[in-house]
Amino acid sequence: MDSLEQLIDSAKQDFLAAPDAVALENAKAKYLGKTGLITAQMKQLGKMPPEDRRTRGAVINAAKGQIEAALNARRQDIANQKLQEKLNAEAIDVTLPGRGRGKGGIHPVMRTWERIERIFGSIGFDVADGPEIENDWTNFTALNSPENHPARSMQDTFYIDGNDANGKPLLLRTHTSPMQVRYARSHDLPVKVIAPGRTYRVDSDATHSPMFHQVEGLWIDTDISFADLKGVYLNFIQAFFETDNVQIRFRPSYFPFTEPSAEIDIAFGSGPLKGRWLEVSGCGQVHPKVLANMGIDAEKYIGFAFGSGLERLTMLRYGINDLRLFYEGDLRFLKQFN
Ligand code: DAH
Repeated sequence: MDSLEQLIDSAKQDFLAAPDAVALENAKAKYLGKTGLITAQMKQLGKMPPEDRRTRGAVINAAKGQIEAALNARRQDIANQKLQEKLNAEAIDVTLPGRGRGKGGIHPVMRTWERIERIFGSIGFDVADGPEIENDWTNFTALNSPENHPARSMQDTFYIDGNDANGKPLLLRTHTSPMQVRYARSHDLPVKVIAPGRTYRVDSDATHSPMFHQVEGLWIDTDISFADLKGVYLNFIQAFFETDNVQIRFRPSYFPFTEPSAEIDIAFGSGPLKGRWLEVSGCGQVHPKVLANMGIDAEKYIGFAFGSGLERLTMLRYGINDLRLFYEGDLRFLKQFN
């Protein structure tokens, strides 16, 4: 029956003429749908005598198979064409100029850190670095902090899971002072070192951050006095703030690891902070018990130590009034330093 041959031909032509998937599915309905032409042929079978029905059915099915094959081939073509169009649309023009990259900059606290290393390096101080995860002995005991000292409490200190070899808890160092002990125990005398680094306390508001930075200083020799401490620290402050018009004073204080202990205040002779005493550091003469824990003979050696906050020094240098600005990563703030 050539009407089936014609159906196949016209189906193939219709499929090829369909420009997209929707048109193709419509063309399919014309032949294979419920009221389609092939379906109509199938329906005719019922009216035929049974002996013709089988042969005719097989012929119609073969025709249907050919139409379906043509349909699938065209479906594949349309899908390929669509993919190709998409790839062409997304093609990257490698000849276009690049977008370029933003330049990074140094964080203001890191600038302070680097300046401090340079200043103290220039007067013969070694620069040391140590672990931020500390043990109880080095952070507290060796520094003469009694067992019941409030700094040891969970409110002030971040303890971490796990103990050291002595079964004592590990913690995030609450100050850089343990570096005094680490350094002195592992270096020959005299000891003359600074140790800048990150420190941690359970604290967070406009003037406290749970992570902050300190620099520790330590000078131990046979004849070091508070006069040396004053000279070194004043030299540092003058170099750091780039002015000779600044005073320093010692105010009595208490730290377990120094005796006597003091706070160092500074006052500028000019500028917006003129004449105001500003606290910048703790300090003192190294306690004999601490010297003993360093393995140093306190009868022969003497020294001073200090510990200053890098954020505080940075805020004073640049006139920053909120500590949190350092940690928010706001480029409008950070770009001003680069
Ligand atoms: N570790 C002290 C603190 O975090 C600061 C300090 C005070 C360090 C006196 C010292 C020192 O070396 O002698 O508050």
